Amino acid sequence: MSSAKVTNDIYSVGILNPNMRVFDIVMTTDYGTSYNSYLVKGNEKVALIEACHKTYFKQYLENIKEVIDPAKIDYVVLNHNEPDHTGSLAELMDYLPNATILISQAGSIYLKNITNRKDLKVQVVKNGETIDLGGKTMEFITAPFLHWPDSMFTWVKEDGTLFSCDFLGAHYCEPYTFDYNIAYPEKYESALKGYFDAIFAPFKSYVRAGLEKIKDLPIERVCSSHGPILTKGVRLEFVIEEYKLWSAAPQKEKMTIPVFYTSAYGNTRKIAKAIQKGILQAQPDAVVETYDIIKHDMGALAQLLNECDGFALGSPTINGEAVPPLWMLLAHVDVINNKKKPVLVFGSYGWSGEAVPNLIARVTGLKMAPFGEGYKVCFVPTEEDLEKAVELGRSFGETVTLR
Ligand SMILES: Cc1cc2nc3c(=O)[nH]c(=O)nc-3n(C[C@H](O)[C@H](O)[C@H](O)COP(=O)(O)O)c2cc1C
Ligand SMILES: [Fe+2]
Ligand SMILES: [Fe+2]
Repeated sequence: MSSAKVTNDIYSVGILNPNMRVFDIVMTTDYGTSYNSYLVKGNEKVALIEACHKTYFKQYLENIKEVIDPAKIDYVVLNHNEPDHTGSLAELMDYLPNATILISQAGSIYLKNITNRKDLKVQVVKNGETIDLGGKTMEFITAPFLHWPDSMFTWVKEDGTLFSCDFLGAHYCEPYTFDYNIAYPEKYESALKGYFDAIFAPFKSYVRAGLEKIKDLPIERVCSSHGPILTKGVRLEFVIEEYKLWSAAPQKEKMTIPVFYTSAYGNTRKIAKAIQKGILQAQPDAVVETYDIIKHDMGALAQLLNECDGFALGSPTINGEAVPPLWMLLAHVDVINNKKKPVLVFGSYGWSGEAVPNLIARVTGLKMAPFGEGYKVCFVPTEEDLEKAVELGRSFGETVTLR
């Protein structure tokens, strides 16, 4: 893609990457992506907003040159320092001898370690601070955890344009800059949701705060850093409504305390059922189901784990370790929203019994709150062992509260 005019004074100079299928290891991107970057021209000064992925630097520089001599750029605004936006920055700065980088406090620290350059002119900007380009004002709005601690938005009131970086974006690539030209709207909508789920779902309270910060701005368009520019009356309102819906705080009336386990010979299963009984004695109104995790969809289990109020987790010890499906489930833990979540770990073992302590170490590492030392039973649980499990389930259940 070459450059494109957004308004009389704003130009899109970013790059299309239609072939990308995996982003940041963990995200599939069926429709590619774009690394958007924009030039904002005032009467006196010029700002470049975001840079682009390192791989595409040559083309990116050409796009900028179509609009302006890079030496005439006065500011580079970095709303966020992930390498998809700043990967090309170190190289780019060689062509921008007169530019000062405008960045959040957190961003300034990341920038140092990303570029490993000490010669860059960097100016930290604060929430609400403005910089005048001559008839064009850039206002900076900090937006922490959308989706890194350094994230911010840049608002240019004269053009009603919000540069939101990753926020409200989508990994979606079409050769058109604007939302009114989207050829496959359904695919775009699915990319928008996939992007929200992968990037913003762990930060729902921050998404709500971000929406609150921009709700009174007379926005004509949002220039995000991935996907089409969103314009008022076309898709902007739709995307904001979707973000509101997806980030809404869950209205829960009942506690949910699932019991996740798996079991080769049924021993851990027996303990799971006894624990379930005990939890229900303490919390008779709670939803307390047992799940043999190899029989259920991992995505659904992970969602349940992330949204529940507390849970129990059981594994036999096989070859000196808890079994892989349990690790798989824990790999999906949303670390940000599960802090201090109560967890009761249990399992049957034969001789060494590493599963329970290893799972406790893991949930501790995930900043959850394991209940005591957990519960281990040697081989087949006796009636007495199961009574103990009920008792333990009850005491554990008493500690769980609605989150
Ligand atoms: C292949 C295999 C490997 C095992 N390795 C261990 C081990 O390293 N340490 C241990 O304490 N128990 C080990 N056990 C014993 C199991 O933990 C024990 O049989 C337990 O009761 C199984 O519980 P389950 O019926 O819930 O699967 C092993 C069992 C199997 C089948
Ligand atoms: Fe990012
Ligand atoms: Fe990004």
